[in-house]
Amino acid sequence: MAQLWGGRFTKETDQMVYEFNASIQFDQRLYRQDIEGSMAHVRMLAKQQILTEEERDQILEGLAGILADVESGALAITSEYEDIHSFVEANLIGRIGEVGKKLHTGRSRNDQVALDMRLYVRAEVEDTDRLLFALLRVLQRIMEEHVDTFMPGFTHLQKAQPVTLAHHVGAYFEMFKRDRSRLHDLRERMNYCPLGAGALAGTTYPLDRDYTARLLGFAGPTLNSMDSVSDRDYVIEYLSALATIMMHLSRFSEEIIIWNSNEYRFVELDDGYSTGSSIMPQKKNPDIAELVRGKTGRVYGALMGLLTTMKGLPLAYNKDMQEDKEGVFDAIDTTKSCLALFTGMVDTLTFRRDVMEASAKNGFTNATDVADYLVGRGIPFRDAHSISGRLVLKCIAEDKALDDLTLEEYRAECPAFEEDIYEAISMKTCVERRLTLGAPGEAAMREVLAKNRAYLECIGINT
Ligand code: ARG
Repeated sequence: MAQLWGGRFTKETDQMVYEFNASIQFDQRLYRQDIEGSMAHVRMLAKQQILTEEERDQILEGLAGILADVESGALAITSEYEDIHSFVEANLIGRIGEVGKKLHTGRSRNDQVALDMRLYVRAEVEDTDRLLFALLRVLQRIMEEHVDTFMPGFTHLQKAQPVTLAHHVGAYFEMFKRDRSRLHDLRERMNYCPLGAGALAGTTYPLDRDYTARLLGFAGPTLNSMDSVSDRDYVIEYLSALATIMMHLSRFSEEIIIWNSNEYRFVELDDGYSTGSSIMPQKKNPDIAELVRGKTGRVYGALMGLLTTMKGLPLAYNKDMQEDKEGVFDAIDTTKSCLALFTGMVDTLTFRRDVMEASAKNGFTNATDVADYLVGRGIPFRDAHSISGRLVLKCIAEDKALDDLTLEEYRAECPAFEEDIYEAISMKTCVERRLTLGAPGEAAMREVLAKNRAYLECIGINT
């Protein structure tokens, strides 16, 4: 064990205590952020003449060497150190000697870890955004191809009214677009630099916090040193955004599972994205969709875990906060792999237009349109609703669709029906006449598709 704080102790830490306290097993993922943060800190110290330019250059060179060696695999991060901060500092001193001991001037591990986590989360927010963008492009492609692919729209998982596949997929387009905007919002809110907060009360050195913030791409420094070292709101916000992304992926997965079932057959999963059964030769299972749905639970768990860890913590830093890491790391890995796999799965999905269209036709999805037809002929909607309902009842009894009834049968219920009823309730008409913005009618859909195209022209985080 190698630690940074031996001075006031007369006894070695118990091995079990040491291991329980250590975070190197998981915070080693922060090595790049830790080194980049230290580099900015050292540049600022030299600019403020707290270090000489020569000392700065020696330290920078040492840090760059550590970074290169860790990345090449020449230097392994081992559990001999308590955390990634101790690892980097001890290594630096090992490389460049005494001057390495000056790195930690005007800094505490409390503001250091707060900075490392911010840098890490900020990069991951951007990465998550890119994955969402790739998914949105695939969804847009599917939408463009299926403006006239009719399918039943459901409420209560009962056939309700006909829609199109473009329209149905478009609902998810909106969800993932909101997910991106949540990421953009939180990135902006979190983009302030905590370095310089020290342990909790700042330092007596004349640090230039604006300068460090600028070097690290932050909008500015944070404004309260106690808050700076104890704020994990941005991790919670990010976890909440990840949980919402997973909730959306899970809903879409559930639909794909249903659509892929023998009863629906709306879609066919690509062989590369499905698995077989060890006993039932006929099986082609939607495991990827099921796993995405299943993994949603652990991302929710990470959010609840950190909210609970933070609840009731007094100011400022407390060791409890070390528990912010494993949950969010797992949630990031999980959500990113789910996004990537889900995108591939949807991109290779075959949609069975004929099956979807036949299904939309045989579920009385045009019953509302029968009623609307009568309203067009002066019948009050409430009466028209009831006439249409009786016609549906008759069709159920005779096992046919509304389109199959003869004009005499229609007129037996209400003399206002004319020959044009068939045209009025055809699937094409039912969908095409729904032209309110956001509805599935082709003209309305094309307007939305054009807006989506404009949206997809810019990948930038701040669109
Ligand atoms: N490993 C610690 C963490 O992740 C770093 C900060 C340690 N600070 C301290 N005062 N013990 O939170």
